[in-house]
Amino acid sequence: MRIGFMQTRPRFGDAEANIRAIERGLAKVREATIVLPELCTTGYLFESRRELRALAEPLDGPSVTRLRALARSQRLTLCFGLAERAGRRVYNSAVSVTAAGRRYVYRKAHLFDREKLFFDRAEPRFEPFRSGTKLGVMICFDWIFPETCRTLALAGARVILHPSNLVLPYCQTAMVTRALENRVFTVTCNRVGSESRAGATLRFTGQSRIVDPRGKVLAQAGARGESLQVVRIDPGQAADKRMTSRNDLFRDRRPRFYRLQ
Ligand code: ACM
Repeated sequence: MRIGFMQTRPRFGDAEANIRAIERGLAKVREATIVLPELCTTGYLFESRRELRALAEPLDGPSVTRLRALARSQRLTLCFGLAERAGRRVYNSAVSVTAAGRRYVYRKAHLFDREKLFFDRAEPRFEPFRSGTKLGVMICFDWIFPETCRTLALAGARVILHPSNLVLPYCQTAMVTRALENRVFTVTCNRVGSESRAGATLRFTGQSRIVDPRGKVLAQAGARGESLQVVRIDPGQAADKRMTSRNDLFRDRRPRFYRLQ
């Protein structure tokens, strides 16, 4: 199967322009699973809950409808970040849409910094879905909680789709460890550019990357420019959890002795 990322530079508050840029960028891509950044339709640095609510969209809103149509017409699975309005609540979500017209929603478990001011805290469901292979989803800061990737991998995910808006310098390198310790493929899609709003400036660090179950980096984008990269993988490699002839990463676990709460 083919998996990839499209590292973009969203324009704050202009979903129409951001969706058009995604459609243009993916115009020649067919039959692939593509990850886009976190909050790629709205931008990231909201000034208030009111502003976030005004820019957020329901799951049957124009952004999901457009990207769903794109996935169908070009036989893609797309995973993209969305400010999701659900009644009175607003979630930092990742929506996955498939060529078959199915839709899966993951709501970010671990909100980062100012996100805590404006987004609602979700009751996340770490449930992989099937499209080509078993795909698990986490969003940006979720990476630093190893339980997130582990839970998805134990549930059978072979590829972790990871829409991001990274501003700290750690994640891209750390994803080698997440891939290796779970023996899964990971696709981290970050954004580039900066936002100066609400008296703050954030610079997004790009360097989206795809890592294989042995920790090898299969594709990597630069820190500044937009980038589309697609690689061919055998997801079956992620089914093999052996490290040595005597070590299987999942069978050797000792969960009875782990104190996680
Ligand atoms: C992040 O979770 N957007 C850093």
